[in-house]
Amino acid sequence: MTSFAAVIQLIYVLAAACFVIGLHLMNSPATARRGNQVSTAGMVVAVVATLVLLIHDGTVTAAGWIVLICGALAGSAFGLYSARTVQMTAMPQLVSMFNAVGGGAAALVGIYDYIHVEGLPGGVLGTTTVATLLDAIIGGVTLSGSIVAAGKLQGVITGQPVIFRGSRLINIALGVVIIGTAAFMLGTASLPALLVVVLASLAFGVMMVLPIGGADMPVVISLLNAFTGTAVAMAGIVIGNWALIVAGALVGASGGILTKLMADAMNRSLANIIIGGFGTGDSVVAAAGPGGDVQVKSIQADDAAIQLAYASKVVIVPGYGLAAAQAQHAVAELASLLEERGIEVSYAIHPVAGRMPGHMNVLLAEANVPYPQLKEMEEINPEFARTDVSLVIGANDVTNPAARRAGTAISGMPILDVDQSRSVIVIKRSMASGYAGIDNELYTDTKTSMYFADAKTALADLTAAVKTLVG
Ligand code: TAP
Repeated sequence: MTSFAAVIQLIYVLAAACFVIGLHLMNSPATARRGNQVSTAGMVVAVVATLVLLIHDGTVTAAGWIVLICGALAGSAFGLYSARTVQMTAMPQLVSMFNAVGGGAAALVGIYDYIHVEGLPGGVLGTTTVATLLDAIIGGVTLSGSIVAAGKLQGVITGQPVIFRGSRLINIALGVVIIGTAAFMLGTASLPALLVVVLASLAFGVMMVLPIGGADMPVVISLLNAFTGTAVAMAGIVIGNWALIVAGALVGASGGILTKLMADAMNRSLANIIIGGFGTGDSVVAAAGPGGDVQVKSIQADDAAIQLAYASKVVIVPGYGLAAAQAQHAVAELASLLEERGIEVSYAIHPVAGRMPGHMNVLLAEANVPYPQLKEMEEINPEFARTDVSLVIGANDVTNPAARRAGTAISGMPILDVDQSRSVIVIKRSMASGYAGIDNELYTDTKTSMYFADAKTALADLTAAVKTLVG
């Protein structure tokens, strides 16, 4: 290895170290922003090192540089624009589209490397490496699967599971074609065969995601994210780039762990999610709307404000409804008003509240809620017994005591022990169920008062009502 190549390799190691440190910093909301910056710095270093290597080797033609620069500018502009303008509730779709382009790019690297190998007849390799094939297969499945997942979340494709007669047979046939053609290619050079592998993988990605309900998409996206990482690591092996191998392996491993954690926090197996279960759409209207058959205690802003303003300890329980209503700033304003009155306020964060990992943390960070006020489930649960008022905002399943019994869709899922507090106020628009599609026993508890309204409107009214109270 020349000293120049050694320096480039060392820079790749530095970039990889930045990725590892960045990931570690993302463990806590307090350091997550810095983690993002360190990882970005690592990526910039890796890209610059690769460009320097290309200039040094002189292998890229003038036309090649134009394509490279235009591609980088267009990609960066799109990435910046979409990340800045995306709504928090649409973040899973964006992540899914990023997975799609990541998987697609990794597959293209494998195919390109297969076709363009100098000195071989027709440019096609005599033999195919396992890495190239895995790159094409995983990248192809991720590309099409992620596009379908994003389409389901965006409502462009139906969120209901799409299952038709013979779909399982088609999946098996596609699996056989992929494995059979790949095995054939291990000893033989054949570009058409590689194309068959890619096309069958693309079809498999579509067929894999179509039968899964829209509400299970966040877990599927996390799984596809793990696939993207693996495909990128394979691309790194194919072109001998250490930074790609390390970055891909980190994404693959962390995506895999995240998928497992999400499935565990929902008390479901990955197989159950992929094969399909509950969560096939958004809120389902349960037995009664406001004022319907089920007996619940209703409350309005003035009475709720009195309960909150004269409490000593209030726990805010945010859920998907807070995100849907974009009420993060409104809740932060109410919380600081209560604190000014000397009330101890904290937020109970359930690991799968909302629709994506860390959903509540990101949302509340956007409203500059101080990190020490955010309490993980294990930390806050013992506190509920000492809480005067729990203010549940658009949270449903994560507070449902039915999880403690067997035989319900959420049995075994760890929940926030909101029902242990002295009184509970729930803000939501109706008695509609949440993601799991079941009634919430907390709402009919005698110490619970239901405040039927959109979260943002209700919080603004509550804040105004608290302001009118003296002492
Ligand atoms: P959910 O159980 O989904 O309940 C959300 C509630 O918010 C609904 O019942 C809805 O009732 C209410 N809501 C919707 N829009 C509202 C608005 N504008 N204002 C006020 N309320 C509104 O939410 P959760 O308690 O956060 O639980 C999350 C669920 O998602 C869990 O079952 C979890 O397993 C699942 N899940 C989570 C993830 C991750 S990683 N977070 C991934 C996949 C699935 P109304 O319609 O009556 O208002």
